[in-house]
Amino acid sequence: MSENRVIGIQNRLPWHLPDEWAHFRSVTEGRPFVMGRKSFEAPDALHSSYRNIIISSKKPDNPQSGIEYALNIPTALALLSGEEEVFILGGATVFQEMLPLAHRLYLTIVHAQLEGDAFFPAIHEADWELISSEYHGVDEAHAYAFSMNLYVRRSGK
Ligand SMILES: NC(=O)c1ccc[n+]([C@@H]2O[C@H](COP(=O)([O-])OP(=O)(O)OC[C@H]3O[C@@H](n4cnc5c(N)ncnc54)[C@H](OP(=O)(O)O)[C@@H]3O)[C@@H](O)[C@H]2O)c1
Repeated sequence: MSENRVIGIQNRLPWHLPDEWAHFRSVTEGRPFVMGRKSFEAPDALHSSYRNIIISSKKPDNPQSGIEYALNIPTALALLSGEEEVFILGGATVFQEMLPLAHRLYLTIVHAQLEGDAFFPAIHEADWELISSEYHGVDEAHAYAFSMNLYVRRSGK
């Protein structure tokens, strides 16, 4: 998210940060993704090479092969019950709904104030311990500086 919590504009990411994508890929490799229907339909949507669970209140008219669909969050979680680790990819609605279930937060902060129409939910800082933070500056390929942060939920929160 940007410093003003923006995560999207007109169903796209507001930035293009190749090294952040590479970081995302290395962290999530081989794990299942859960995302909302709108994020799945975004032109720059990221898909898991392993499993993709799409949440939508409606059954898809043209289901895509290899994609799993869930009509609600409990159904998505039931599909994933045997998985060791699952990544919630967003967007804003799904982050809001599923943040209370998360144990870890891989939260990249893009160091800019950006315009947008989708936002990451407010988090209670006291609930989360910052485990690591890696800063990446502006360069030819990256218009914004960013910090790749990993938080772990404090026990009992
Ligand atoms: N920066 C990031 O890390 C990041 C990551 C992902 C997405 N994004 C951005 O976020 C924006 C999209 O976010 P969004 O909030 O508009 O959409 P979204 O969360 O991707 O999808 C919302 C849709 O998911 C389905 N849904 C969500 N909760 C549900 C539930 N409990 N039960 C049944 N269906 C449920 C509904 O689909 P139906 O309408 O079909 O019922 C709902 O309309 C885009 O701009 C995208 O680029 C940013």
